[in-house]
Amino acid sequence: MIIYNEETRLFHLSSRTFSYILGVREGRLLTLYYGNPLPEETDLSYLAASYYSGSSFEQLEQNLPLEIPSVGTGWYGDPAVQAIGPDGNNITKLRFADYKILPHKEPLKGLPSVGVGSCKLENDETLEILLKDDLTGLQAILSYTVLQMQDGEMNALARSMRLVNGGQNELILTHMASAGFSLPSRRFDLLHLRGAWARERQIVRTPIGQGAIRIQSQRGASGHEENPFIALLAPETTEDSGPVYGLSLIYSGSFLAEAQVSPFDNTYVSIGLNPMTHQWHLQSGESFQCPEAVLVYSSKGLNRMSQTYHVLYRDHLCQSEWARKERPILINNWEATYFNFDERKLLSLAKKASSLGIELLVLDDGWFGVRNDDKRSLGDWYVNPEKLPHGLSGIAKKVNELGMKFGLWVEPEMISPDSDLYRSHPDWCLHAPGRSRTEGRNQLILDLSRKEVQDYLIRVLTGVFSSANISYVKWDMNRNMTESFSAGLPAHLQMETQHRYILGLYRVLREITEAFPQILFESCSGGGGRFDPGMLYFMPQTWTSDDSDAVERLKIQYGTSLVYPSSAMGAHVSAVPNHQVGRITSMNMRSDVAIGGNFGFELDLDKLSEKDLETARSYVNKLKDLRSLTARGVFTRLCSPFETNYTAWQFVDEKRVLLCFYRILAEPNPIPHRVYLKGLDPHKSYQVDEADASSLPPSLRQVFTGAALMEAGIPMIWDQSGDFVSRTIVFHQV
Ligand code: DGJ
Repeated sequence: MIIYNEETRLFHLSSRTFSYILGVREGRLLTLYYGNPLPEETDLSYLAASYYSGSSFEQLEQNLPLEIPSVGTGWYGDPAVQAIGPDGNNITKLRFADYKILPHKEPLKGLPSVGVGSCKLENDETLEILLKDDLTGLQAILSYTVLQMQDGEMNALARSMRLVNGGQNELILTHMASAGFSLPSRRFDLLHLRGAWARERQIVRTPIGQGAIRIQSQRGASGHEENPFIALLAPETTEDSGPVYGLSLIYSGSFLAEAQVSPFDNTYVSIGLNPMTHQWHLQSGESFQCPEAVLVYSSKGLNRMSQTYHVLYRDHLCQSEWARKERPILINNWEATYFNFDERKLLSLAKKASSLGIELLVLDDGWFGVRNDDKRSLGDWYVNPEKLPHGLSGIAKKVNELGMKFGLWVEPEMISPDSDLYRSHPDWCLHAPGRSRTEGRNQLILDLSRKEVQDYLIRVLTGVFSSANISYVKWDMNRNMTESFSAGLPAHLQMETQHRYILGLYRVLREITEAFPQILFESCSGGGGRFDPGMLYFMPQTWTSDDSDAVERLKIQYGTSLVYPSSAMGAHVSAVPNHQVGRITSMNMRSDVAIGGNFGFELDLDKLSEKDLETARSYVNKLKDLRSLTARGVFTRLCSPFETNYTAWQFVDEKRVLLCFYRILAEPNPIPHRVYLKGLDPHKSYQVDEADASSLPPSLRQVFTGAALMEAGIPMIWDQSGDFVSRTIVFHQV
């Protein structure tokens, strides 16, 4: 609900779980309140007035609870907006001018956003606030939509900003945040998802104080190193209690998320494009659309925030019909063969896979050009007849005859210097005149800011995807930008290259995914280097990490679950010793961890023992039964691998509960670890599934009440010795 009170000049955006109140004072837009819901008529104008004491108001901006701070106004922190005018002046004074309440949320031009197209939500009234700088003519249109889900039990706030040049002269935008807000004096912790290749999205929580803390990417991709997400938490906040403010950006390129604490303890938090990598020239009459940010407030700790993001990003973001469907159990040949395969080997893998009940074979890197290693051929998207004498259609047909679907890997944004494409179009990659072309994994990046390059990709990919019965595509991207320079742009627009690239990428993704609605697309970037809501808008799942070790995956999947649903995470059982860390874990442990995402295999089945094959077969069967629960059930974190020797999480739907428990290192004389389930009906009864009961001690083969499972808990790991053990138990409501 959105209300504007003419008398108090307050905007009140409300839902069952939060209120967000904005005030206007001397033209400045102030965040007066963000937190637990307040009655509709609550008058907080006294808060706006209370900032008037002391010296000159102008000088006080740094201590005001500003919504969108700018420059040259007494705000001495990093601005949310800065525009440089023709005289070189960067003073940007945005003052309240007008507002509108629109009946619906509109899609953002060229950019992905929630609750649009096939994901439209009911009651998507949208508030637009217009701020103006009278001298330069710059206008900032701030947009707010309260997103209500699950009958109003879960809510979020979508925010974005559009900048319009209403003046006569060119303006250069150097700061363009998507959303920001102020919170009054109290101490916060900042939580972010830090990492690197093969160890993405590790949870880091740090107390913040006066000064600024910046979480960012300048890589032209959201990156392995940080995710476009931060949360502010009270120091006492836990998984299940206390306030949390989450900010997530629907964008796949360089970003900046920032928390700034003023000398008077005003905490300003914002998220948006990174000013280090993005500028935009705005001519008179032109507009610039900033990406959308999604704010989630939870008064009930981190789990509730995550569950809200899960529902939003699973059900109301991705346009693909696959987003809300169960995913096939697949086998990918990458870690099974790397580049060393031919049709015979792939078919042998497929035959064995089909006998286990696996539903899809994904042919990974190496099927095109002369790509027998990672040194060449990106860009030459025609089949290598030595490996696949019957082409893609031939292998797809044979895989289909085994009762399986066929999937294909591509890395369309890249170009190898050793490729026919590069030889014909050496200027089609990002590069700067007079500088060397820095390679990453022996490759350069195609300049997707250029329309002719986008058109070329759309044409070539349309040809490849129509050439065979392809049901699944893994879209990879294996390096970050260095020379962010385009041969298609004049000198003064070069700082626009990165954003133009992302807009170009989104155009290609839109055209391709719309042309092939039946294909299930998975995005990937050296594993999880672009695991962001921007990619999830087009592709419902992402390859979570190139680290497929079960123990490493506990942290990676746990961290990823802070924002992203299990249905977005690819999770495969791979070989031992594990290829990334050399660790040996059991088939059970590896399978129990892969249950936490879109379950699949990535190993040479021909090398598995009979016993492991049997285990694999039983997990495939089990997953076919469980996948509706893991894809759509409510996911809750129970025990953190970042804090303990254990990890536990659960999935719950109307009928079943799946409890997943992992112990990392063996313990001498172990104390049974008590796990307390969450979110069950205390009055309902739950019985352990028959298949799981046989492996449990008799004392646990009984009917439990929800209250007992939640309050008294259940003791785990009683009979297994050794490192890396796991147990998954299904409970049925009776
Ligand atoms: C990086 C991906 O993350 C891997 O899964 C694999 O597809 C390779 N690229 C192939 O080059």
